[in-house]
Amino acid sequence: MLDPASRAPRASVPDTARIAARVLLPTLATGVIVRRPRVMAFAERRQLDRSAIRLLAELRSRYGDGPLRLPIPGREFAVVLDPAQVRDVLRDSADRFTPANLEKRTALRHFQPHAVLISRGRARARRREFNEDVLEIDRPVHELGPRIAEITAEEGARLAEHAGGRLDWDAFAAGWWRAVRRIVLGAGARDDRRLVELLNGLRSDANWAFLHPRRTARRREFDRRLRAHLSRAEPGSLAGVIARDSSDVDGADQVPHWLFAFDAAAVVAYRALAVLTAQPERLRAVREEADGSDSPMLPLLRSCVLESVRLWPTTPALLRDAITEASWGGRTIPRGSGLFIYTPLFHRDRGTVPDADRFAPESWLDGAAQQHPGLVPFSAGPGRCPGENLVLLTASTLLAALLRGHEFRLDGEHELGPDGPLPHTLDNFELEFRVAARAASGTR
Ligand code: HEM
Repeated sequence: MLDPASRAPRASVPDTARIAARVLLPTLATGVIVRRPRVMAFAERRQLDRSAIRLLAELRSRYGDGPLRLPIPGREFAVVLDPAQVRDVLRDSADRFTPANLEKRTALRHFQPHAVLISRGRARARRREFNEDVLEIDRPVHELGPRIAEITAEEGARLAEHAGGRLDWDAFAAGWWRAVRRIVLGAGARDDRRLVELLNGLRSDANWAFLHPRRTARRREFDRRLRAHLSRAEPGSLAGVIARDSSDVDGADQVPHWLFAFDAAAVVAYRALAVLTAQPERLRAVREEADGSDSPMLPLLRSCVLESVRLWPTTPALLRDAITEASWGGRTIPRGSGLFIYTPLFHRDRGTVPDADRFAPESWLDGAAQQHPGLVPFSAGPGRCPGENLVLLTASTLLAALLRGHEFRLDGEHELGPDGPLPHTLDNFELEFRVAARAASGTR
């Protein structure tokens, strides 16, 4: 039994209602698992992330560094408010704070019941190792790097050429998925749009975690199609790498998360393209890099992709459950508590992040951003994203392919220039570009 005097502060009921209305509800409504276009448009108009950040910053100044416990009937739940606690919680993931948190398990069981993210104990260790090995977590350029760069170059060029002078989200996403299916499953999956449709259906169900019945027929069809692609084990694809793996982990249980997560990577790449086209100096610099290099390693473009996730995190809610009682400076939360890390609060914290509201990719190049305990676009510690390097490789080479051959002009009113603060919410579905072939002298 915890001594009540040592417990972390507890928010009042009105403050908890404000957190529910301004942080939790908008995060759920825009879609934790798959983003909902209409809600995203509303969220951008009202800049909902800014409102959430302001509220949590205000509560931090009133209640202290937290964690701030919420009086939710039947569930101990606390909001993390301090960057040092973010680092502690993520670094000790698996030992003291499991990533397989209750709410996450409920949401993800629809389409990835055996995913590493919601596994525990020995099963988690084996699945984690499989993910780290096949995705090559620590290698900036995957062994498939040259092949991936070829695929993104082909699909990127095709995307821009067939855009008919305009590029919108649907066209971009269609091209992105063609590339991703080739990278993950091989050329034989390139045009299997049904696979992604099925996955999106399962992901929509996951948005309604607690309310939705499992759709077993949809799950079965998705699984059948996925296994058929994996069984070809095409050389030059991740399916080929999986076939060489000697562990007893079933790849078909892990790949759904990869496909699901590649969707977030599309959003990140598309937003990076939008900012770059609105900032001529930056655009010139990344073009120089893209034009001057045949290598799949494009450090500046990779840092732009990272900066896009920092500014607009695609996983705004990091959830953990405390396996043991945990304490910071005498403020204790009980065993079994859920912990909620709202990453935009830390990524846009003007008090600790220089250029918090500007596009500043150089902070990833000189390592300053990696040192900041609250900047965790791909999470951190034992639960950090094993796909980070693969995402940076895929997105940067695709952007390079687009920018080498074409000029992009962003349509409409978006305040993405270098001078003003960047918006806190950026609706990717609304971004649209005019596209023109680039003068021959500019291309390689
Ligand atoms: C922009 C794209 C992506 C972002 C921002 C991202 C970010 C993240 C974050 C923040 C987590 C931790 C979630 C948590 O702690 O609750 C995570 C986990 C994970 N990601 Fe990614 N991810 C991306 C794309 C990918 C891709 C493309 C793959 C695979 C090809 C991938 C594979 C994974 C896996 C397997 C986990 C679970 C790790 C574990 O529980 O041990 N991610 N990702």
